[in-house]
Amino acid sequence: MATDLTPALTHPMALARLRERIAVTTEAARRAGGYLAAAPHRPIAPTADAVAGLEAFRRPLQDAPRTAHDVLRELDEVGSPATTVQAMGRYFGYVNGGVEPAAAAASILAGAWDQNAALPAQSPVASVLDEVAAAWVVDLLGLPHDAVATFTTGATLANFTGIVTARDALLARAGWDVNELGLIGAPPIRVVVGDEVHISALKSLRLAGLAPGLVERVPVDARGAIDADAFPTDTDALTLVLLQAGNVTTGASDPFDRIIPGVRERGGWVHVDGAFGLWAAASPTLREQVWGVDQADSWATDAHKWLNAPYDSGVVIVRDYRDLYRAMAMHAPYLASTDSRPLMHLSPHMSQRARGVETWALLAARGRSGIAELVDHSCAMASLFADLLREAGAEVIVEPALNQVPVTFGQEPGAPGDDAVTAAVTRAIAQEGTLWAGGSVWNGRTILRISVSDAATTADDVRASVDAIVACWEAVRATF
Ligand SMILES: Cc1ncc(COP(=O)(O)O)c(C=O)c1O
Repeated sequence: MATDLTPALTHPMALARLRERIAVTTEAARRAGGYLAAAPHRPIAPTADAVAGLEAFRRPLQDAPRTAHDVLRELDEVGSPATTVQAMGRYFGYVNGGVEPAAAAASILAGAWDQNAALPAQSPVASVLDEVAAAWVVDLLGLPHDAVATFTTGATLANFTGIVTARDALLARAGWDVNELGLIGAPPIRVVVGDEVHISALKSLRLAGLAPGLVERVPVDARGAIDADAFPTDTDALTLVLLQAGNVTTGASDPFDRIIPGVRERGGWVHVDGAFGLWAAASPTLREQVWGVDQADSWATDAHKWLNAPYDSGVVIVRDYRDLYRAMAMHAPYLASTDSRPLMHLSPHMSQRARGVETWALLAARGRSGIAELVDHSCAMASLFADLLREAGAEVIVEPALNQVPVTFGQEPGAPGDDAVTAAVTRAIAQEGTLWAGGSVWNGRTILRISVSDAATTADDVRASVDAIVACWEAVRATF
């Protein structure tokens, strides 16, 4: 590392500030390494004592400054024990991914860069890496090669971006300019969704001024995928259809090939929420589950769940650049740019961190086959979970399509799942510490949701987790 700072910087205060930054950045990396080294020895969910220790943060802001070292020490000593251990392969909650080594390392470097990715003039490297990483995502997902893609904070913002783009495009085709006229008095847009639409898409509709309460819900099958035979055939040029790749409980995807062509022929717009499930397209063995998804108009996904990028890595993809630009561009003389792809014109964000860097790093490290392997591996681990839990007498209520395993526990092994037993097992697992998985409700039944979204999960993790789950179940049965 270059430590001779004097030729370029001579003012003592500037030198001191930079030296402090170098020292504390190095110290942060050292502490981050220590945190990871301790992770295998910690329960997956933090102890009650560690959570109670967070009270130390709740105090009035003091008057006097503190050193960055001192603040970092407090953060590590008080904060680190109160984290959930996400990257040890045994956190199965929500659809929280782990983090790939290359992506985590890139995040540290990009933090030192501190780039604003809004305009290429602000950060040439952020612009190029966003463009390249987003294009790689489009390619891996088998989407139209000339589609435009960029990073957002998450899949929710990617859904929002896609839906606003759809709204404005449909209305523009009907001769209504939302940018000039707003929505009041606009021709009404008909919105059709599957009954298992994710709340993120509904919230995005709400934010876009399209009343979720008025959407038409199409029935779904036992796996939560839209029943194509029940899908309306009278959609028109003012219809927005929201489809889903990867149900959050079962992993099932809607029958894109049976729905999208008709909707688009009649002039409507299809947006696909594929937060994690769209990544099935990156696996030659799983691709058929999302067959026809490439025919949609816009897609939302993210790299921070299944792909194991750090958070803040949503991706929105739109077939026609002009539609995205119409909805998202904003102009001011001080932000004028002659570049072809200023990020501030492609999403709701203006100032933004260099989000594409981490996804670029993990894709560059894994390569095409490595991404397919990541996706296939999680699905294999989900199947192993399902097999072992079934062998132990639990009820896997939907065979995992991808990486999600919904399961219930009965009064006895082999007996039908029981809501109270399942809820008690879920609570016991959280306290036992070998793994973490959350509860949910599926078709009115209380379930344990196991989401295998951390690339670090091994077959040994699955076996150890199933052993722990079965032990918790036995302990719960003893109390019923
Ligand atoms: C299908 C689906 N869509 C959207 C989201 C929201 O994603 P994010 O948390 O990145 O906003 C999720 C989150 O689990 C999801 O499963």
